[in-house]
Amino acid sequence: MSNPVAEHYGQPNLLERIDSAFASLGKDSAHLTTDDLAPVDQFHTGGMEATAEMARLGEISRDENVLDVGGGIGGPARQLSSQFGCHVTVLDLTEEFVRVGAALTPRVGLKDRVSFQQGDALRLPFPDASFDVTWTQHSTMNIPDKPLLYRELHRVTKPGGRMILHEIMAGPLQPIHFPVPWASEASFSYLSTPEVVQENITSAEFRQIKWIDASEHAQKWFLARIAALRESTPSPLGLNLILGERAPQCFQNVMRNLQENRARVIQAVFARP
Ligand SMILES: C[S@@+](CC[C@H](N)C(=O)[O-])C[C@H]1O[C@@H](n2cnc3c(N)ncnc32)[C@H](O)[C@@H]1O
Repeated sequence: MSNPVAEHYGQPNLLERIDSAFASLGKDSAHLTTDDLAPVDQFHTGGMEATAEMARLGEISRDENVLDVGGGIGGPARQLSSQFGCHVTVLDLTEEFVRVGAALTPRVGLKDRVSFQQGDALRLPFPDASFDVTWTQHSTMNIPDKPLLYRELHRVTKPGGRMILHEIMAGPLQPIHFPVPWASEASFSYLSTPEVVQENITSAEFRQIKWIDASEHAQKWFLARIAALRESTPSPLGLNLILGERAPQCFQNVMRNLQENRARVIQAVFARP
């Protein structure tokens, strides 16, 4: 593997490590629910609650076709499908995530509604106007060419469809503290300010419907998580399976970046006219 982003995320044998974590909790990992998997497959601030909030903001409805770009091992995709009844295609750069996501999905009974494909957000392997909804959730922080990203998302979104995002962006004070969950160091982290992202998206001819700065809410969520972790024995099933020993430091740094105004969390909905 030569791509530093895929290398950062793609630690080997993830499925085997998830299986052993379930085994050590006395749980049969052949039959799972989206809730069972949430500690390891919702790789963003706010967990399942944030995913549901995005779906409500974007008015996702039954049987819509959603493309989740940078969908990781598929937690948001499986939740969207089970909770809101849509069909979801996950596209992700990291081969290991695509393999693990595809293996976990039948175990929650969603094989016919959620599919996985390896690929790059900057070269989406889909024809024009393929999806009712395009979705990114904490997946654009490693992408330098955001104007091209939003042109690609616009191209594959159907006219009348929506693009929904939940992303970490740059705060007014830079640089950020590293490591963070998306990068161990600065060479492959590309945060743009909310103003620049808004400009990139509207230049790609999306029309803004909703734009919410959720940074304060994200900070409260982190504080609650950090407090809960201090009070209980850490579970073997968590994002530590992806981030390894650096996980606590990565999360502390996201918290610190938010507190010091070096990072912002934005939720937004855009329409493709
Ligand atoms: C922090 S994870 C978020 C995963 C998922 N969206 C979630 O919320 O659980 C970021 C994801 O973005 C993916 N990613 C980064 N750059 C990408 C690119 N250029 N194209 C596709 N996926 C990308 C990574 O492989 C990783 O799975």
